[in-house]
Amino acid sequence: MKGLRVVGTGRCLPKNIVTNAQLSRQVDTSDEWIASRTGVLQRHIATDETNASMAERAAQQALERAGINPEQVGACIVATLTPDYATPSVACLLQRGLELPEDIPCFDLNAACSGFVYGLTVARGLLAQGTKPYALVVGSEIMSRTLDFADRATCVLFGDGAGAVVVEASDSHNFVSVLGTRGDDTSLSCPVGGTLQMQGSEVFRFATDILPRCIHETLNKAGRSLDEVDYVVCHQANQRIIAYVVKKLKAPEEKFYLNVQYYGNTSAASIPIALDEMATKGLLAAGSRVLCVGFGGGLTWGGAWLEW
Ligand code: UT7
Repeated sequence: MKGLRVVGTGRCLPKNIVTNAQLSRQVDTSDEWIASRTGVLQRHIATDETNASMAERAAQQALERAGINPEQVGACIVATLTPDYATPSVACLLQRGLELPEDIPCFDLNAACSGFVYGLTVARGLLAQGTKPYALVVGSEIMSRTLDFADRATCVLFGDGAGAVVVEASDSHNFVSVLGTRGDDTSLSCPVGGTLQMQGSEVFRFATDILPRCIHETLNKAGRSLDEVDYVVCHQANQRIIAYVVKKLKAPEEKFYLNVQYYGNTSAASIPIALDEMATKGLLAAGSRVLCVGFGGGLTWGGAWLEW
């Protein structure tokens, strides 16, 4: 088995939308500050949704679009740092809800905002040694659970949501990834049961350093150039970070997908939400090649060459 092929995508966003104007009535901020510093205009915030309910809806949609039977799924991985329970994992709840087979691994993976790229890589490894052809890789977060809504430096940045892909083991499609870690509990941390703390400018520096390097390394490993990529999907944390990367790589701006305006930073869910949005807009079809790049808490990072 050489690589992976994406055969279905799905997403689920909480129905409750909170605009910058609404937030600025709650905390000392403004639409002008949030929009100009981050690009974010609004975010979805969960009310009665749970992490597992969003993950299940996104995954169900991905399975339907893939047109496959749950019996054919060989692994289910949910990337998240905000599960409903320490145990059972969100992935175990999906096994029940989606009626996935019992003889497959289902587990959550925490690599913060890089989790989806880590998840794809683990899925590929599991498919290579398994007997079923498909894996479900989901990113699902209720970031609002971790936010202190009195801390304007963090609460305006994040949002909730879930995205999912079904990947198929394939000899005719390539998959390459580069993963990295640098242990650091000062730039970005969230104690269990506590609130998220971030040194924003530290993380900004880290992101603008690691993203271009990670893109280069992933392309080198795949033996490809940026010209051969249809879209680059960076973790959606801040429009200014993506604009920096475009400039640094002297890349065409339109190749870098951007939707942070509508969702804020949804951590591990941001890349699969973007992939599903792109697929439903008709931007992705058989033969498409996408470079996914994540970075975030840990610190962690990861790039993946992904084909449709
Ligand atoms: O997925 C996890 C990865 N996380 C990230 O990628 C986040 C990376 N970092 C960032 O995106 C940016 O650093 C932020 C958007 C978090 C902050 O932008 P910044 O341009 O680095 O602002 P700053 O932290 O340097 O703050 C500038 C000013 C400060 O006021 P003073 O000290 O200059 O008077 C802050 O107190 O902006 C103030 N400020 C705010 N003002 C209005 C901070 N948050 C807010 C706010 N509204 N929400």
